[in-house]
Amino acid sequence: MSRTKIVAGNWKMNKTPSEAVALVNELKPLVAGADADVVFCVPAINITKVGELLEGTDIALGAENVYFEDKGAYTGETSPAMLKDAGVSYVIIGHSERREYFKETDEEVNKKVLKVFEYDMTPIICVGETLAQREQGVTIDLIRQQVKIALLGVSKEQAQKAVIAYEPVWAIGTGKVATKEQAQEVCAAIRGCVAEIYDDATAAAIRIQYGGSVKGANAKEIFGMPDIDGGLIGGSSLNDDFAKIVNYDK
Ligand code: PGA
Repeated sequence: MSRTKIVAGNWKMNKTPSEAVALVNELKPLVAGADADVVFCVPAINITKVGELLEGTDIALGAENVYFEDKGAYTGETSPAMLKDAGVSYVIIGHSERREYFKETDEEVNKKVLKVFEYDMTPIICVGETLAQREQGVTIDLIRQQVKIALLGVSKEQAQKAVIAYEPVWAIGTGKVATKEQAQEVCAAIRGCVAEIYDDATAAAIRIQYGGSVKGANAKEIFGMPDIDGGLIGGSSLNDDFAKIVNYDK
């Protein structure tokens, strides 16, 4: 079955509200008419404004995080209902920066994934190994564990709609991109793991991105691999290189 590629920008903690308006206005015409699904995952404070600017376009609105409770006394957090009401359709869950700096665990990632589905949004579930783990030879074991815990309690129908982003920690923001073979090997292992948990149809439907120093100059070869269905883009989502990535096939 053929899967539509999905390219998501992860702005991280960049762009003030007024800078966000300028960037969206710059990128909107450049990514129009892409063959891939395009998502802008923006800081919480920019969601409402960017959502307004994306109305009437094919670009989907995404968030970079969410809390796993519906509402209440959780100072500083953003609820799934808030995101949903603001027009968000994708939520990045368990990015390695959240795991590292904010101590998010696989169990919390799982709770967030379940909540995002409950509110009819799509999680972009991030998994990835550190350089030390790669050198210890535990990459595939670790990724399988991250995937299995993230998907606990997720139905087959939900899993078919999910997005998993394989992001080797050593390739994020470092300019050190994984080779296309390294990226393919892990993305294929993720698909195999999904087939074990569910079935072949679910594995064939789920979309698996690669993330980590993707640029306009390397997107085509990476996205050309059989199990790689697009990318999660950090640094290059903040300028017009993002349009080159989105239009990698043109
Ligand atoms: P990068 O970040 O493209 O800047 O390496 C990717 C990510 O962290 O999602």
